[in-house]
Amino acid sequence: MSKTKSQKSTSKKPVSKKTSTKVSAPKRKLRPADQYDNGSYNYQHYWDGRDYEHAAEQLMIEQMLSGRKFKHAVDVGGGYGRLSVLLCKYAKKVTLIDPSKKQLQIAKDFLKDYPQVDAQIGQAEKLPFKDGSVDLAMVVRVIHHLPNPIPMFEEIHRILPSGGLFLIEFANYANFKNRVKHILKAKKMPTQPVDISTSKDNDISFVNHNPKVVKRQLMQLGFKVEDQLSVSNFRSPTLKKRLPKKMLIKLEKALQRPLAKTYFGPSTVFLLKKR
Ligand SMILES: C[S@@+](CC[C@H](N)C(=O)[O-])C[C@H]1O[C@@H](n2cnc3c(N)ncnc32)[C@H](O)[C@@H]1O
Repeated sequence: MSKTKSQKSTSKKPVSKKTSTKVSAPKRKLRPADQYDNGSYNYQHYWDGRDYEHAAEQLMIEQMLSGRKFKHAVDVGGGYGRLSVLLCKYAKKVTLIDPSKKQLQIAKDFLKDYPQVDAQIGQAEKLPFKDGSVDLAMVVRVIHHLPNPIPMFEEIHRILPSGGLFLIEFANYANFKNRVKHILKAKKMPTQPVDISTSKDNDISFVNHNPKVVKRQLMQLGFKVEDQLSVSNFRSPTLKKRLPKKMLIKLEKALQRPLAKTYFGPSTVFLLKKR
């Protein structure tokens, strides 16, 4: 379940054309998304040594939500609650939804000082909320498991009222480094999700999305882009070794917005409003 895999951008095969731009999701039986329950993988340990990336995502939430207040925020695919706790600053009530029993078990301890966060089992494609009952939905580091994220987008659209906000972060296949690689190989940047899994043994999806396609899918569903950020712009072992963390964070803060329009970094964030 290596998260490095999920955010890593290498030239791999685009997955089936059927999954990307169309906005009509077929109604299929929901397959349990319990990948994080398998084996000995502990997602909490993934964050050891990744202080910069974690701080970059904290900053991103602050830049997007500062000055806003919500009644009910939902962290969809929230894992053990790493970022759910930050939503407490902006929302009266926070619900973490995750399909993994193991993540929820870790959350019990991680969230013990945050009684306003309610952690529940559930899946993005079938959320346990009434139509229009949630005013902020957040999805961070989840759609690399969803070659077709449209059923999730439709579900989030359903639970938000008109004017409700959707904050989504995902691995950006069209980042600067990858674009250079494609130019050098005289290859076009794919519009289909790109399979970046390194193991053929498991059936867990690891894909990277083209942010322009994701944006189009969301707009076709009735979302309007309010803001956009480029995140973890200095995710490089060399930079992390050579520059002090404080300096990287300062640069990250200053550049998340200016670099967004060019889809520079390995992670893209959209703040969307339901029309
Ligand atoms: C890399 S973790 C990210 C957790 C959290 N958002 C964070 O940033 O720390 C991916 C999470 O997505 C969850 N997940 C996978 N498929 C999902 C689905 N279809 N619906 C909701 N969550 C899903 C996994 O159980 C896992 O907790």
